[in-house]
Amino acid sequence: MTDQIPRAGGSYHIGQEPFYLSTNNEIKTFTAAYTARLPVMLKGPTGCGKTRFVEYMAWLLKRPLVTVACHEDLFASDLLGRYLLQEDETVWIDGPLTRAVRMGAICYLDEIVEARKDTTVVIHPLTDNRRLLTIDKKGEILTAHPDFLMVISYNPGYQSVLKDLKQSTRQRFVSIEFDYPAPEKEAEIITRESQVDPQTARQLVALAGKIRNIREHGLVEGASTRLLIYAARLIDQGTPVQEACRSAICLPLTDDTRLQETLVDLIEDLF
Ligand SMILES: Nc1ncnc2c1ncn2[C@@H]1O[C@H](COP(=O)(O)OP(=O)(O)OP(=O)(O)O)[C@@H](O)[C@H]1O
Ligand SMILES: [Mg+2]
Repeated sequence: MTDQIPRAGGSYHIGQEPFYLSTNNEIKTFTAAYTARLPVMLKGPTGCGKTRFVEYMAWLLKRPLVTVACHEDLFASDLLGRYLLQEDETVWIDGPLTRAVRMGAICYLDEIVEARKDTTVVIHPLTDNRRLLTIDKKGEILTAHPDFLMVISYNPGYQSVLKDLKQSTRQRFVSIEFDYPAPEKEAEIITRESQVDPQTARQLVALAGKIRNIREHGLVEGASTRLLIYAARLIDQGTPVQEACRSAICLPLTDDTRLQETLVDLIEDLF
């Protein structure tokens, strides 16, 4: 349900600097928002570096990071916490959001639109100047730790009438837009995240560029940086390049056989 397992040492601190290649002025904007304690929304397609960025910022700002992967069965109570029966006693266990609010962490709610509507009731007073968390079940109102910051991610590509963020929610966040990194940066990321040679990395990026251009013809989203890294890692393992691209890029992207043929043609053109 939630990624709330503390890191080594029982802490949410990120010990080692995560590799993150800046693609724009996102580090500056986030730092300014953090300093002003303004909640942040990361917008962008899947696999383009949002999660890696938050990990990097938590490391840079030396704040603990609590990540929650939101899904359609996530209720406000999952974020807040619950009473559990232990022997003859009922014991209150903080949920990930409550924990983050108490300890002054960065709380990253990934894919916020997926969560149940009742979560907005919890999020709103925390993300305006009140900075309050109401825990109904305990009758407790918590003032957020001065270092607490809420960060949410949102993929406008999946946006639908039903699953759009309400204006009253979106207008509580400073937004940072993410997209696929520029070609030379994306190639650098691929070589850093795999053992592949720079030339192959550049070819993978060129392939992605072509695929991202045919997006309008039936693909919901282009090939992500994540998939390019997968292809590079298969190549590292000795998989022939065309096969690696088919397994890591074409098949995950679409089930449509005609579209897949188009993708295979692109691969054969490039490699
Ligand atoms: N700017 C970057 N610097 C370093 N690595 C990057 C960068 N952008 C993407 N990556 C790589 O791409 C992978 C996917 O990125 P990440 O998991 O952060 O995507 P995401 O935007 O959070 O996707 P999703 O919306 O699906 O959660 C990372 O594991 C990392 O290897
Ligand atoms: Mg992510």
